[in-house]
Amino acid sequence: MTLPKYRMRRRRGSESMRALTRETRLHVSDLVLPIFVAERESDAGPVSSMPGVERYAVTQLERLAERLNGSGVPAVMLFGIPAKKDADGSGAWKDDGVVCQALQRLRTLVPELTLMADVCLCEYTSHGHCGMLNGEAVDNDRTLVALQKAALAYARAGADIVAPSGMMDGMVAAIRSALDENDQTDTAILSYAVKYASAFYGPFRDAADCAPSFGDRRTHQMDPANRREALREAEIDLQEGADMLMVKPALSYLDVLSSLKQGFKGVPLAAYQVSGEYSMIKAAAANGWIDERKIALETLLSIKRAGASMILTYFALDAARWLRQDG
Ligand code: PBG
Repeated sequence: MTLPKYRMRRRRGSESMRALTRETRLHVSDLVLPIFVAERESDAGPVSSMPGVERYAVTQLERLAERLNGSGVPAVMLFGIPAKKDADGSGAWKDDGVVCQALQRLRTLVPELTLMADVCLCEYTSHGHCGMLNGEAVDNDRTLVALQKAALAYARAGADIVAPSGMMDGMVAAIRSALDENDQTDTAILSYAVKYASAFYGPFRDAADCAPSFGDRRTHQMDPANRREALREAEIDLQEGADMLMVKPALSYLDVLSSLKQGFKGVPLAAYQVSGEYSMIKAAAANGWIDERKIALETLLSIKRAGASMILTYFALDAARWLRQDG
C-alpha cells in the first residue's frame, strides 16, 4: 500500500508556498494599545511590574502621540488615574476628569486614532472596587447610574467606543440608553462581556493602582472553570445593545474565544492580552529563557486564529515594528 505523501510535500514547500496556504495573518490593524493616563505628573512614569509600559500624564501625551503616529496602530484603550479617589469614584464621570482631558488631547494629536475608553469605577474608588458599595457589597444598580454618566462624558469628549469592564448586570443597556437619549447614538459599545476573575490582572492593579482594599471581584467576574456561561453573558450583552464583545484574559481562554466566534458569527470579537500575560513574557525574556519577539508574535497570532478580530495588547507598538520589519 502506498501512503499519501502529504507531509513530505508540505515540508518541501518554500516560504512563498507556505504563505499561499497560510490561514491566519496578524496585521498591525488588528492591534489596540491600552494606555494609562495620569491626571498628575507625579503619578506618571514606568510601571515596575510591566517593563516597557509607562503611565503618561495628560501633559505628556505628545510623546505617546509621536510613537503612535506612523506606527500603524489604529486604536488605543484609555485607563485613567485620577488625582483624587473617593468612595463613589466620582472622578470617573467629571467632564474635566482625566479620561476626558486625554480624549480631547489625543483627538487633536492623532486625529485618525480610534479612541476607546474603559468604563469602570475601580481606578476611581478609594476602596478599589468596580462599583459603589452598600456595606461591603457592590451596589449594582447605583453603579449603573455612575457608569451611564461616565460613558456619556467620554462620548462627549470624543470617545469612538466606550468599553464597560466592570461586569455589572445591565451595564450595556444602561449605557446604550444614556448615549441614545443624549445625542450620542454613534458611539459604539465594546462590552467586556466575558471577563474572568483572573490572577493575570495582577500587574495592572499595580499600574492603575486599583487592587481592591478588601475582598475580591468574584461576585461579578466569571469563574475560570466556565465556558458555556460565556455564551450566556455574550447573548445578554448583545441583546442589551453591545456592538462588539471582549474576552479577557486571552491566552488561557482561547477555547472560549473560539466558541463565541462560532456561536455569534458576524459579531466583532476583541481579546485582551492582559498585564500578567505581558509581564510573564517580559520576565522570561529578560532572563534569556525565551525569544520575546517570537513568543509575543506567536501568542498574538494564536489569539487571532482563535477568533479575535482585534487584540488589546501592551505589545502593540513593538508588534507593529516587528511586523513592519518582517514585511
Ligand atoms: C477594570 C479592569 C481591569 C483590567 C482592565 N480593566 C482590572 C480588574 O478587573 O481588576 C485588567 C487589564 C490587565 O490586566 O491588563 N477596570
